[in-house]
Amino acid sequence: MYKIAVLPGDGIGPEVMKQAIKVLDKISEKHNISLQYKFSDVGGIAIDKYDTPLPEHTLKICENSDAILFGSVGGPKWENLPPDKQPERGALLPLRKHFNLFANIRPVKVFKPLKDSCSLKDHLIEDGIDIVIFRELTSGIYFGQPKYISEDNTFAIDTMKYSVSEIERIAHLAFETARIRNKRVTSVDKANVLMSSILWRETVTKLHKEEYPDIELSHMYVDNAAMQLVRNPNQFDVILTGNMFGDILSDEAAMLSGSLGMLASASINESGFGLYEPIGGTAPDIAGQNIANPIAQILSAAYMLRYSLKHDEAATKIEKAIEEVLSKGYRTKDIYTGKKGEILVNTEEMGDLIVENL
Ligand code: IPM
Ligand code: MN
Repeated sequence: MYKIAVLPGDGIGPEVMKQAIKVLDKISEKHNISLQYKFSDVGGIAIDKYDTPLPEHTLKICENSDAILFGSVGGPKWENLPPDKQPERGALLPLRKHFNLFANIRPVKVFKPLKDSCSLKDHLIEDGIDIVIFRELTSGIYFGQPKYISEDNTFAIDTMKYSVSEIERIAHLAFETARIRNKRVTSVDKANVLMSSILWRETVTKLHKEEYPDIELSHMYVDNAAMQLVRNPNQFDVILTGNMFGDILSDEAAMLSGSLGMLASASINESGFGLYEPIGGTAPDIAGQNIANPIAQILSAAYMLRYSLKHDEAATKIEKAIEEVLSKGYRTKDIYTGKKGEILVNTEEMGDLIVENL
């Protein structure tokens, strides 16, 4: 019996989470996986109810679970609160740190039926796109100390700090994943300027030499990587990078898939415990209208089965069902182009279709 902390959060979170739960119910029944959900509030809704974005009882539920299925947090209503009370800084970053979720895995896949939604020219994505980004998530400039705005408000400091062990543990995961994929790792840094990047590059190079000589390793500066991602995305297999570079590159890469509503991520720690979330955010402009794309949330449930619960087969089935539904022409509004053969569906309908195709 697996205990799952379900934190739908704000905006479209609750409505897309509902679809993910439907999919989990069906797949767990088929594969004899016993799941127990514990729902709890996080983000803006928790601020409204308990005056904090990450209430103690929510954290307790997460601590007593095998994985966290996360929706999204934030919205205009809470944007003007002091920084540490805001949903993102006050809930998501502390959760990552608290559970030591150092590895953020962001698969970027263009499902073949959706090639037309990709903003790149056809010949660049002929065979679809299949990249995995490994982003370090609990260190670097997001968390390095000192970090403050001076009392007289004339300057501010963030610190980009990486230790060898922090670099090694994320690099191990990237190399191991490359081994079961296309055996290529591109490590992204800014070693022509930053000291932390020099250490990053040295550490990755040494680890590669000692333990992963069968993998093809290349290094790329982050500005070049941003350019190469839109010039020729298929040169990448596994991208390994730090916290801030990974944040930026993964949004860029996400748009290759046509919509932010299509991608999810896994954030895991040393013991395989993880937090699973769509990367698209709360989309307050369309919340509550039953038009949001639930696929990213459903994919995050698939990753949870794969990475934390070790039910790879069930995860693959969900991915196949999504592909099937897309190839039959069903589209939510964000990926609907009006072409012949496309059928516009709402959030609930997309969820039902994926369940039917499992
Ligand atoms: C992400 C988000 C977060 C990040 C924000 C909401 C703090 O952009 O998960 O990529 O920067 O890590
Ligand atoms: Mn981001």
